[in-house]
Amino acid sequence: MEICRDTEALNIMIKEAYQQAKFGKVADYIPALSWANPETLSLAIYEGKSMIATAGDTSETFTLQSISKVLTLAMALMDIGEDGVFSRVGMEPTGDPFNSIIKLETHTPSKPLNPMINAGALAVTDMIKGNTVEEKLGRLLAFIHELTGNSAITYNNEVATSEFETADLNRSLAYFLKQHRVVSSDIECLLELYTKQCAVEVSCEDLAKIAFVIGNEGRSVETDRTIIPLHISRIMKTFMTTCGMYNASGEFAIKVGIPSKSGVSGGIMAAVPHGPGIGIFGPALDEKGNSIAGMKLLESLAHRYDLSIF
Ligand code: DON
Repeated sequence: MEICRDTEALNIMIKEAYQQAKFGKVADYIPALSWANPETLSLAIYEGKSMIATAGDTSETFTLQSISKVLTLAMALMDIGEDGVFSRVGMEPTGDPFNSIIKLETHTPSKPLNPMINAGALAVTDMIKGNTVEEKLGRLLAFIHELTGNSAITYNNEVATSEFETADLNRSLAYFLKQHRVVSSDIECLLELYTKQCAVEVSCEDLAKIAFVIGNEGRSVETDRTIIPLHISRIMKTFMTTCGMYNASGEFAIKVGIPSKSGVSGGIMAAVPHGPGIGIFGPALDEKGNSIAGMKLLESLAHRYDLSIF
């Protein structure tokens, strides 16, 4: 792919994106995330067997946050199937912020509109099979190890605890869902699992590798194995396109057009169908919770290398 020979253009794109970061702010509603350096920007682009482009400190790690929602969705679909999952969570974008509670009450039946908003992700996490939080988390980590080939990946306990102790809004969502029989677990156990899944720590190289598998029909080129069934990788990409950037998904689809998922730590995972996997880390966020520099960089990449799916 031409990206690997285009170092000069890549440097310009990085510089332009980096300029945008000054307009953003790191997330601070999870106290441990507020320590991030807003002036960081790293990028990794992976094409099956090697990284074809990198920029910044690609070994720097950060937590998945909402990017984990795509992975737990895949696990729930593998665990209980489409009918089971979509009886408890919908398929429609909301146009509301990621942590909004409003449609749970105004919508009938009271089920979350999609698995990418917090309410929907809590419902999905509740579906993961396992007898204990440890067992469920162990299954998620094993899945991530297989997707990345990196068995050192684990969760950051400081970030998980910081979120667990302050997650009153997510607790409210979860209790509301329990009242309406959308979730059945003990809510504190569900919150423990959810905050640990969000605190799984990766680098942008890890993200690029996961994105590559999602973009390439669930297959790992390195191991020549299907890790995610084709129909599930399609569902993942579809939700990434329609809801992955929350209430900015429409504008992002027009300007970038790559199935992507953001997290409030500043990560973005972008999966080009039958193309490269892209991982970005830039912790300065816009008011919708998406990495400002990350979105700008993806816009430039999509434009220059014609990566839009539309
Ligand atoms: O539940 C939360 O609020 C966070 N653990 C994840 C939210 C998030 O990453 C939204 N993304 N942009």
